[in-house]
Amino acid sequence: MKLTCLAPSAAGVAFLTATMFAATAVAQAPQAPMEGEPGGPPHHYPMPKNLKVLPKNTNGEQIRKIMHGWAGGLGVHCDTCHQEDPHNLGPDGKPRLDFPSDAKQQKLIARRMYKMVQGINTEYISKLKTKEGDPAQHVTCGTCHRGHLDPEPYVIPPEHRPGGAPAQGN
Ligand code: HEC
Ligand code: HEC
Repeated sequence: MKLTCLAPSAAGVAFLTATMFAATAVAQAPQAPMEGEPGGPPHHYPMPKNLKVLPKNTNGEQIRKIMHGWAGGLGVHCDTCHQEDPHNLGPDGKPRLDFPSDAKQQKLIARRMYKMVQGINTEYISKLKTKEGDPAQHVTCGTCHRGHLDPEPYVIPPEHRPGGAPAQGN
């Protein structure tokens, strides 16, 4: 099943949550009761193993927050960038995601995109002179993607296209 194709639904969210909990359980092989379950220790995500662009000391919880931001900015689910592992099935019989794997092209593109965003923010946006007490707005994935995996081309409205300006600005 491709989660990407589904509109957000209760089932989708439940599955995602299950996948995330399941991934943690596998990486850590905890004893019963499982982490994050009543009676178990507080929920804890494993340290990432394969970071190439995010700071190496980013912990599991921080990674989750960042990833939810990326997924939200692009309007996708985790499986757009993370490969399913057919040898690692969850309790529902569905493959869990292999987060450290670099098998998916989108994950590689996302790394470049992150570097680009970092560059834009550190080299340009943060050097803007803004009014006192008015911090520069930073570029995020959502600045361009606006909830779409493929950013929609901006079409200039006809009333703002005097003198035969092209439909797409430059
Ligand atoms: C747009 C692509 C994209 C989406 C969507 C995405 N990720 Fe990631 N994820 C990445 C990239 C790229 C990295 C590696 C970052 C690096 O190299 O520093 C990564 C790394 C991770 C890692 C660390 C893996 C390791 O051990 O190195 C975890 C865990 C993870 N993502 C979880 C998630 C979860 C959970 C979701 C859904 C909420 C998600 N990701 C959505 C691109 C994505
Ligand atoms: C400055 C604008 C901009 C920002 C900011 C940006 N992107 Fe992109 N991104 C693009 C454009 C434009 C494309 C389409 C390139 C193409 O046509 O192939 C794209 C394509 C992608 C793709 C491939 C989409 C596909 O069809 O498979 C991924 C994945 C992606 N971006 C992830 C990210 C992530 C993650 C972030 C934030 C860390 C981000 N992008 C921030 C402009 C941006």
